[in-house]
Amino acid sequence: MPSVSSIGIFDSGYGGLTILSEIRSLMPEYNYIYLGDNARTPYGTRSFDVVYRFTLESVKQLFFMGCNLVILACNTASAKALRTIQQNDLPHIAPDKRVLGVIRPTTEVIGDLTRSRHVGLFGTEGTVSSLSYNIEIEKLWPDIKVTGQACPMWVPLIENGEAQSEGADYFVEKYCNALMERDSDIDTVILACTHYPLLYDKIRQHLPQNVKIISQGPIVAASLKDYLHRHVDMEQSIKKGGECRFYTTEQPEKFAKNASVFLSGKVTAETITFR
Ligand code: DGL
Repeated sequence: MPSVSSIGIFDSGYGGLTILSEIRSLMPEYNYIYLGDNARTPYGTRSFDVVYRFTLESVKQLFFMGCNLVILACNTASAKALRTIQQNDLPHIAPDKRVLGVIRPTTEVIGDLTRSRHVGLFGTEGTVSSLSYNIEIEKLWPDIKVTGQACPMWVPLIENGEAQSEGADYFVEKYCNALMERDSDIDTVILACTHYPLLYDKIRQHLPQNVKIISQGPIVAASLKDYLHRHVDMEQSIKKGGECRFYTTEQPEKFAKNASVFLSGKVTAETITFR
């Protein structure tokens, strides 16, 4: 494996930045490339085939740009595309490269976080209807009941810079109430969309105070650190220099402006056209 690689972080838009920032604060030494497919966001309402095709294109692009390891920092892509890419595509296109998602690390820790064994989940329509969390949690923690609530309005609000508006309150309250009405024993809620930490304060306000809210960033960062510790060849192939480059399929100025809401500090982005 050539030691010129960066860690690739992919999302349909800006949401993966909530994962990137936690990964970088835990492991600032590595080089990173962030790719947001902003031109085609949101993925959450798209079919399995379309999410798979878009995600595979982005993964191939990140491989081409020198990433040996790509994190799908997107629950929708992790739910709908990860397994097919890992099992069907990687053996042919890049047997030495790896693609990891955000669902498995989250499900691994959830059993230690809930006491009532009733877990709620906010996600896109795609993530919730895939039942990926229900299936993965059932394998590891069969005593946990999972209730998923799709929140189709949240990503558009965030992508359009309306996360702090009064309009956002209406939709946050609506989906929080809908979840708790379906299972009032829930004591832990997973923000199973990487955009949602941007709505954390509002979600906190509209869920009962005893309910824990789990953002995935720190969990995924810790899991990646552990992965790199266990995969020495991969770890050694990643260049250390602390650089991070940002690419978008949309306008770079727009990306740079909106990304600054997710990350502290100025961001410079470049447009990418898939090869
Ligand atoms: N951030 C993505 C996720 O974690 C979804 C956003 C979208 O719908 O594109 O699911």
